[in-house]
Amino acid sequence: MSKSQNSQAADAEKASPSDIKQIIQGLNEDLAREYKAIIQYVVFSSTLKGAQYGDIAAQLKIHASQELAHALELARQIDYLGGNPTVKSKDAEFSADSKTMLEIDLKAEQETIKNYRVRIRQAEGAGEFALSEKLRAIIAQEQDHEIDLKDALGLR
Ligand SMILES: [Fe+2]
Ligand SMILES: [Fe+2]
Repeated sequence: MSKSQNSQAADAEKASPSDIKQIIQGLNEDLAREYKAIIQYVVFSSTLKGAQYGDIAAQLKIHASQELAHALELARQIDYLGGNPTVKSKDAEFSADSKTMLEIDLKAEQETIKNYRVRIRQAEGAGEFALSEKLRAIIAQEQDHEIDLKDALGLR
């Protein structure tokens, strides 16, 4: 292998500072979305009305605590990468209409899943495999949340 090929191989293995900066920025967006999810699930699990929604209120309480665990993990990862975990949430949404609120939560979960897919690709591209493993565990729970909400809305 020539000298230049060698240094290219080394570059591929080691993340550049700008890659890491981009990942930190992305993770902070994800963290702000997790804060928003916590707020929405805390409020909505307490206010959800309607017998047709059965035990979804209890499931939403579980979602709330899982979103908190995600936020804690993201903050830890951001700190590990040398960033500052954000203190700002994305704006939480609310509707007094239960069906509308479930649709709001479903849309948010789908947005979250889309963003974690991007983040996993970025982490793997930068050689941050431990991070991508953590994100894969999180995205699996987000997909369960999406299924719970679709079931509650009769979309499956
Ligand atoms: Fe989450
Ligand atoms: Fe979620």
